[in-house]
Amino acid sequence: MKVPFYDATREYSDYKAEFDKAIADVIAKGGFILGKQVSEFEEAVCKFTGAKYAVGTANGSDALLIASDILGYRNAEVLTPVFTFFASASCIALLGGKPVFTDVDEDSFCMDMKDAENRITKNTKGIVPVHLFLQCADMTACMDLAAKHKLSVLEDAAEAFGMSTLCNGAYKHAGLIGDYGVFSFFPTKTLGAYGDAGMIITNNEELYQKAKSFRTHGATKKYHHDYIGYNSRLDTLQAAILNVKLAHIDNAISKRAEHAAHYRVMLNDIPAIKLPQIKNANKEVNYVFCIKAEKRDELDSFLKSREIGTSIYYPVPLHLQKCFDYMGHRKGDFPVAEKLCETVLALPMFPELTVDEINYVCESIREFYQK
Ligand SMILES: Cc1ncc(COP(=O)(O)O)c(C=O)c1O
Repeated sequence: MKVPFYDATREYSDYKAEFDKAIADVIAKGGFILGKQVSEFEEAVCKFTGAKYAVGTANGSDALLIASDILGYRNAEVLTPVFTFFASASCIALLGGKPVFTDVDEDSFCMDMKDAENRITKNTKGIVPVHLFLQCADMTACMDLAAKHKLSVLEDAAEAFGMSTLCNGAYKHAGLIGDYGVFSFFPTKTLGAYGDAGMIITNNEELYQKAKSFRTHGATKKYHHDYIGYNSRLDTLQAAILNVKLAHIDNAISKRAEHAAHYRVMLNDIPAIKLPQIKNANKEVNYVFCIKAEKRDELDSFLKSREIGTSIYYPVPLHLQKCFDYMGHRKGDFPVAEKLCETVLALPMFPELTVDEINYVCESIREFYQK
């Protein structure tokens, strides 16, 4: 048996007629740049998440960069975790700011808010909590920190479509607790396009108007530029595809939950493995199913030899990336994140996985540890 880590073709064949029609409609009618499918998708995301405003962008990295620029992170210090995708820090560094790295919680893998507080200086301007893999960062602690030190909050919710968390007594969708939230619709994401796509969400009208203008070169009206912005629009074809996918998202999320539950039952009694833990009253979405595994690299090779797709998120923490050498960090500076980089392994997870495939993955893992 061959088990892909991720496979977009199964979903396409399930809803082929809907995808083909959505794509053909765009091509037949034009409107390739900011066509009506873009605003329809923005409205549908607002309805799904409860956001007041949404601005589609070319990808999640641009969404982070635009939001960082508007929040004034140019030349500022901004807290961001070391265990995350590169874009959570490059959005600050690209603006001449300093990503102030923090360690993460060993169970949730998200920003350690106590460590973050210790790194605040008079130059700190904001916090970028990242909601990773299946759950949100501790947003109650994050918002307390932000209020205490007068910091803005840019939620990197790139991986967090569908996740919500309890913050000050109420559940809110990821991305709606801070000033801005950002989604990525990279193909593998819970809501994934057939190419690059991203989005900024907010409940603040002024921040919404600015984000809308920043994605079209800072124009407030065609050829009238109030700001020096970016060219980062959500492509109409991608929006049309995302509209189809969003209509089926509840089913996709519950299938992921079923697969996670099955993995948990199958792997529960293997002492060399730790299963994901949910913290801080989070309502999780299983975007990625990561285990912590002893002998991770050998297990990874063994699974690959069995034609099982896996992924290592993330092999190198951000403070040890070559491009950040200038910051002078060393191995040992962020011990929790460094340990995670050596132990975490992501197993196949997408809605169309079959029970037989999950059984094969789990039996192969068991066999590896019985050798
Ligand atoms: C945590 C995180 N932040 C930012 C991004 C960037 O999103 P994109 O790939 O759409 O630019 C991603 C996705 O790859 C991500 O996982």
